[in-house]
Amino acid sequence: MIGNQIIYLDRVDSTNNYVATLISEGKARHGMVILADTQTNGRGQRGSTWQSEDAKNLLLSFYLEHPDLEIIQQESLTHLVSISLSNTLTKFGIPNHIKWPNDILVGTKKIAGILIENQLRGSKIIASTIGIGINILQTTFDFKGSTSVSIESDSIISKENFFSEFMKQLNELYPYLINKELDKLKKLYLNKLWLLGIESTFESNGQIFKGSILGTDEYGRLLVEVKKEIKTFDLKEIKFSLRNEP
Ligand code: BTN
Repeated sequence: MIGNQIIYLDRVDSTNNYVATLISEGKARHGMVILADTQTNGRGQRGSTWQSEDAKNLLLSFYLEHPDLEIIQQESLTHLVSISLSNTLTKFGIPNHIKWPNDILVGTKKIAGILIENQLRGSKIIASTIGIGINILQTTFDFKGSTSVSIESDSIISKENFFSEFMKQLNELYPYLINKELDKLKKLYLNKLWLLGIESTFESNGQIFKGSILGTDEYGRLLVEVKKEIKTFDLKEIKFSLRNEP
């Protein structure tokens, strides 16, 4: 079960780094979760940093060993985690979307982010460290594009309640990954994908253009229809324009 062992830390550089150390010491165990109140070097996607006020938010990493997962199936991990987060927010009455590939949005604001680091052997992913930051109690942000559970909800939702519901959602969906029902995960993911099928504005290589998201390909790249032509983008190749409203 994911969450069978939980390690609580007051302060750490990054929960993902903490798992990396456990891996190097041979102490990482499948399903273990590391939770921290404060990170001094929280890491985000594309080398960015993840900022969080002390003790206000959920900062966690969990470790999964995969019996049989191909590198080309790595988008299924993204699906598993982003749908679990999205379902948790929905359970607490907060409408949300998944912005490709794995940001969780409320309206146009980001409420949670995911950083997945995989260990590879040959063509397989043998294990993953899945780091997640979820803004829960923080109410002011340097970056205007962020929001939190307490901003978005009228009820009081504690970090503990959010965490246990998230573990429940994750454990409910995890069998899809194990049983190779990856198409089901993808379907759930596409159901929550922000701007799917909606004409929107994007930026690529300094060019601004309109297009409509069709979904993702088998590698998890974004498929966008631009002037009746289907174009494929990876993470570094496309930006969503701030003009897009849900
Ligand atoms: C993103 O850029 O959207 C991903 C953010 C991931 C942040 C979390 S917080 C817990 C874990 N430890 C880290 O250093 N990063 C992830």
